Amino acid sequence: MRKKIVAGNWKMYKDKSETIELISQLKEKLSSYTPEVEIIICPPYTSIELAGELIKNSKIFLGAQNMHSEIEGAFTGEVSGKMLKSFGVEYVILGHSERRSYFKETDEFINQKIKRAIEFDIKPIFCLGETLEERENGKTFDVVENQLTKGLSGISRIDLEKVVVAYEPVWAIGTGKTATPEQAQEVQSFLRTKISELYDSEIASKVRILYGGSVKPENAKDLFKQPDIDGGLIGGACLKADSFYQIILAAQF
Ligand code: 13P
Repeated sequence: MRKKIVAGNWKMYKDKSETIELISQLKEKLSSYTPEVEIIICPPYTSIELAGELIKNSKIFLGAQNMHSEIEGAFTGEVSGKMLKSFGVEYVILGHSERRSYFKETDEFINQKIKRAIEFDIKPIFCLGETLEERENGKTFDVVENQLTKGLSGISRIDLEKVVVAYEPVWAIGTGKTATPEQAQEVQSFLRTKISELYDSEIASKVRILYGGSVKPENAKDLFKQPDIDGGLIGGACLKADSFYQIILAAQF
């Protein structure tokens, strides 16, 4: 049985005081009842240290939204896995479509980052997904297979245990247009089969595959009920404690 994950990607939201407000509200809700779900928050870098302090002794894990593949160097504006680790970061979102499209990140670069994250014992939340155009042209499976294969290139079976995959169809991100549970399940079951072909079925059955893209309290349960959807990577709905908590509750069955 794979433990479900609900991860909140704060993106470029929440300053210092808003970070304190959101985390205290979330902790308050979780103090009355915390389901058996792995809860992760991924604030912006500026809030990482503060968030880490605020969630100490809680059941919330700390994640980051990105990192560079190098350990250190002259890369103005970048942050390394070594730095994140020193602040207690346990997960890192890599290959998000916003990084791929706005910042031109390639599959090769994402692959290097995944390897580096594992080296620093940070679990990558490896995102992939097709654009609307690719879906309409019948290319969804080719696209996600290509992203998966390149992203995991050179990663050993043992290291794969630390990787979480997140299927995020680009057309569903921030658009309010969620993939139907069937559409998400179809791709996620395909991804699991591919992982099983790349490695073996035992490890494929252990890898958590999340769905992301306009997940809300109203649609979370139907998505999370699908056999190959092991939770969600949440954008907009994680910015309010109430909706994020409702989604966490939806993951407990
Ligand atoms: P939304 O939930 O706002 O669609 O964002 C999803 C996402 O990109 C999470 O990484």
